Formats: sequence, C-alpha cells, structure tokens
Amino acid sequence: MVGTSQELFDYIAMKLAEFVNKESDNYHHPAGRQRELGFTFSFPVMQLSIASGTLMRWTKGFSIDDMVGQDVVAELTQAMKRKGIDMRVSALVNDTVGTLAKGRYDNKDVAIAVILGTGTNAAYVEQANAVPKWHGSPPKSGDMVINTEWGNFKSSHLALTEYDNALDVDSLNPGEQTFEKMTSGMYLGEILRRVLYRMANEAALFGETVPPKLKMPFVLRTPEMAEMHHDVSPDLSVVGSILEDTLEISKTSPMTRRVTVAVCNIIVTRAASLAAAGILGILKKIGRDIAKDEETQKTVIAVDGGLYEHYIKYRECLEKTLKELLGDQSRHIELVHSNDGSGIGAALLGASHSKY
Ligand code: BGC
Repeated sequence: MVGTSQELFDYIAMKLAEFVNKESDNYHHPAGRQRELGFTFSFPVMQLSIASGTLMRWTKGFSIDDMVGQDVVAELTQAMKRKGIDMRVSALVNDTVGTLAKGRYDNKDVAIAVILGTGTNAAYVEQANAVPKWHGSPPKSGDMVINTEWGNFKSSHLALTEYDNALDVDSLNPGEQTFEKMTSGMYLGEILRRVLYRMANEAALFGETVPPKLKMPFVLRTPEMAEMHHDVSPDLSVVGSILEDTLEISKTSPMTRRVTVAVCNIIVTRAASLAAAGILGILKKIGRDIAKDEETQKTVIAVDGGLYEHYIKYRECLEKTLKELLGDQSRHIELVHSNDGSGIGAALLGASHSKY
C-alpha cells in the first residue's frame, strides 16, 4: 500500500503468474493466442478508453506517489513483461462498474451497483443524453455507465463530528473521501476506537487508567467491531474477549460492554443510513424513487463488498432505512448481494472486448 508503483505492479504480476501456473489440466489455452485480462482497479481513474486510464488519487490508505497521473494499464503491462507473462489488458474496470456488469448479465433489472467494503462507491446506468461531459456520438444502446465515486462526496449537510474531523486530519488523504470515511469498512472500527478513547479519558470507561493500546490508530478493525456488535451472549462475553485480545483491557464490567455495543450501534446506524441515502439519491436521479403506476419497472441494486456481506447489522439497517425512505416504492426496489461481482464483471467486460 505504501512504496513504489513498480513494487505494487510487480506484486500483482507475480500473483497473476501464480494463478496462471495453477490453471487446471482441463483448461487448454489455444496456442498462439494471448491471454486477455479484465483488470479491476478500485480507485478513481481518468478513463478515456476501455483499456487505459490514469490514476487521479489514491484512497483507502494507499500512498504510492509516483503512480498518480500514470496509466495503470501501462504500468501493469510493463510489470507483466518483466515477469514474462504473455497477457494483455482488454478492459480496465472500476469495481462498481464490474459489479454492475455482472449484475446486469444475470438480471436485466439491475440498474445500480454499490460497493460497501474497505471503501465505498456506486455506479449506475444513465441515459447518454443526460451526460453533459460526453462529446462523442451517442452509444447505440442510448445508455451510459456512470461511476459516481460517491466516496468523495462532501456537503454541508453531512453532519461531521469531532471524531470525523480528527480522523480526517490524521488520514493520508485529508479533506478527501468524506462520505467514505463516515460509511465504509476501513474507518468504522477507527471511529469506534476514537469514541472509546475519549470515553476512557473523560468518563473512565475502562477504569482509572486509559488502556495504552486504545491510543493506537486502526488497532480496532471493523470485523472485530462487527463481532462485538453481533454478540448475543447474555454476559456479552465476545465483547469482553475482543476488548481483551485487541486492546489488552481485561475484566470489563457488564456496563462497559453494553456501552461499547451501544457505540458500535450508533456508528453503524449512521454509516448504513448514509449508504441508504446515497442509493436513494441515485434512484431519484434516474426517476426510480417514486412508483409511477401499476407497471412500475423493478429496480435491482447489486451490492458487493465485505462490509455488506459480513456486517449483518449494517446490512439490516441499510435495508430498513432504504425501505423507510422509499415508502410505497420500496416494493419495486431490491438489493441483491453480488458475490465477487467486481471480479466476474471485469472478466465479462474483458471477454467482450477481446481482440479475437
Ligand atoms: C474508490 C472507488 C472504489 C471504492 C470501492 C473508493 O475508495 O475511490 O474507485 O470503487 O473505493 O472499492
């Protein structure tokens, strides 16, 4: 995540080589035919063609300065050459766009794809004539995919707390990805740590001394937060053991455990509600937020990402909030989990842009 672009792309090329070497004997690659790759790259890219794009900025804790402004496909192609892999990238695909492609391939009602994982983002199908940035001839379908990069959304209506502001200042990308920092998996555990730290300092939540580990940024990860939040044992024993294992806080009282779960709940309720609001925003943009008549078209939203997949309370809150926001129209809207939609979708797009 931190280093040079050559190190990063050599690593990716090495993993690709390992994968190709593991190909089963049942698969025989046609002789003389180059392998083709759909390349999922989950960062903001200025993309002017299907198989090239320059990195605009890193997100999610990546920091490889020499890469910004460079073509990520060219970098990967050079790395593959260095490793002796005979492969070409036939499509460069953001993970949301991959998820949308896979979703749409399975079900024509899919119109929006959302990633809720380490980071967050959404892509959707827009009418090409509603895209002022597009200057070429309109696509045959009349549709165009928009990658919103909503993780970078910022507005005075987003009520930031002192925890959000402090997290932002200490991050590798201050002032950027504001919505992502309130909503996605990379940051929820860290917000929790910051709240607990203040409660330890000001209200002796963990006793007279402040546990030293609680000072360490990112020591509490979102998967552990989810485990605590999902604890249904009568004495919250899972919360107790996670506080002990990750923060070295032993013998926590039942009240301390309950407070910890309550804080998890507040942070996740806010995050999932914001994600639901983002989805409603896109539904509004494409006129699918209000039931038109009995024939109202169904809209399916394909969602991928570890946060959505594993943090059940997050997922439940997202679904409930979206339902509330949509009222009657919620009958026509469905969220589906698209497992590895981003990878499979990129493979589909890579195949459909094959040169063979
Ligand atoms: C990136 C997006 C990506 C999202 C989900 C964000 O940090 O900017 O391009 O789609 O994470 O992976």
